[in-house]
Amino acid sequence: MPPLTDQHTETLTLPQTIKILVGTMTGTAELVADEIKGVIEAETECGVQILPLDDLEIDVLDGGGLFIVCTSTYGQGDVPDNAMNFYESLGKARPDLSNVDFAVFGLGDSTYEDTFNFGGKKFDDMFAALGARRICERSKHDASGPKIPEDQAVEWVRGWIACAIPAKVEAD
Ligand SMILES: Cc1cc2nc3c(=O)[nH]c(=O)nc-3n(C[C@H](O)[C@H](O)[C@H](O)COP(=O)(O)O)c2cc1C
Repeated sequence: MPPLTDQHTETLTLPQTIKILVGTMTGTAELVADEIKGVIEAETECGVQILPLDDLEIDVLDGGGLFIVCTSTYGQGDVPDNAMNFYESLGKARPDLSNVDFAVFGLGDSTYEDTFNFGGKKFDDMFAALGARRICERSKHDASGPKIPEDQAVEWVRGWIACAIPAKVEAD
């Protein structure tokens, strides 16, 4: 089995359930999360839960597992309003995330050149700083670019599931 990415020599074993945490203002990140869920469920044995960040507590990360953060960027390079509490709670509580694997799909717009995709970058930096293992490069969708976000997400997710070891199927 090849390493997951150039950066990692370890491999990823897919868990039975993958959680997608969604930060959004106008719903695009949620559409992307739906698309990612569809690909994972069609092409692996994993189940997928989509969790909007609105009222989510950081204890969702207790116990570890594989988390995908799918978030846009607002304000001056901030995470969206619905993700703010979750993001700030992580910074305050600084839980040990060494049992967490994660990947970030970020949405932004390159017309905001100084803060392009900073919402995703903030989560990516935070998870890594708290000891979580990044399973692949952050994807940075550009609303001013030629690609539809859902198409970029499908390509991205297929890239990393292709390198992963399938989930263990429970014995009867
Ligand atoms: C008021 C406003 C501020 C924004 N600020 C940024 C920004 O600082 N950096 C960036 O990359 N994109 C920024 N964006 C672009 C959004 O992140 C982008 O359009 C994204 O696709 C929206 O996704 P959503 O519908 O999931 O919220 C901003 C958009 C708006 C409307």
